[in-house]
Amino acid sequence: MVWQMVKDGPFGGLWNQLKILRHEKMMPSTLISGANRGIGLEFARQYLADKWQIYASCRDPSSASELRRMADGSRGKLQVLSMDVGDLASVKAAALELQGKPIDLILNNAGIGGPRGQTIGNIDYETWRHVLDTCVVMNPGWVQTDMGGQHARLTAPESVSAMRRLIDKLGPGQSGKFFNWDGREYAW
Ligand SMILES: NC(=O)c1ccc[n+]([C@@H]2O[C@H](COP(=O)([O-])OP(=O)(O)OC[C@H]3O[C@@H](n4cnc5c(N)ncnc54)[C@H](OP(=O)(O)O)[C@@H]3O)[C@@H](O)[C@H]2O)c1
Repeated sequence: MVWQMVKDGPFGGLWNQLKILRHEKMMPSTLISGANRGIGLEFARQYLADKWQIYASCRDPSSASELRRMADGSRGKLQVLSMDVGDLASVKAAALELQGKPIDLILNNAGIGGPRGQTIGNIDYETWRHVLDTCVVMNPGWVQTDMGGQHARLTAPESVSAMRRLIDKLGPGQSGKFFNWDGREYAW
């Protein structure tokens, strides 16, 4: 009853603010790079379904139609922002846009496969450096995306669901480790 009085009385505005703060505090948030297609888009889809706050970044939001469609129906839970992870100025601009917003999980998903035929003794340094600049430390498996191709073993929902189960179990004790999508650890 006391709560009802607070809600309906002169402190009603404050009550609403508290409700918003409480809600925001409880809702985990994630920043996903390369969220416009493939595995990144699936991460955004699944975390949004779980009511997380999503900061979905991609190189070109104007052409990220599926992501913008999800954002439109999300009541602000999914925000699209521009970020090219290989361009420091672009990363800094995104950081500025996110200033003051708590982020619980960063999914540095953006990546490129690089051209074929890059073997030891036949590596173009600039290309190799570019690939490493945009690499990830969790192996998603061989996944049916533009990169993995249609014959890959896993679908994006399968890979992402498994990685999310793994992410749920990670803590500071796993820092610096390298995991396969199914939870197996790589010795490196
Ligand atoms: N699929 C597999 O079998 C597989 C296997 C092992 C590892 N992986 C890794 O998993 C991650 C996701 O792969 P995926 O299969 O979803 O690949 P994908 O379908 O080719 O998508 C790659 C994503 O990365 C983005 N991206 C590339 N360079 C970027 C940059 N400089 N800045 C921002 N975004 C950039 C792309 O954006 P644009 O649309 O702008 O190009 C796209 O959103 C990658 O790191 C990849 O190396 C995938």
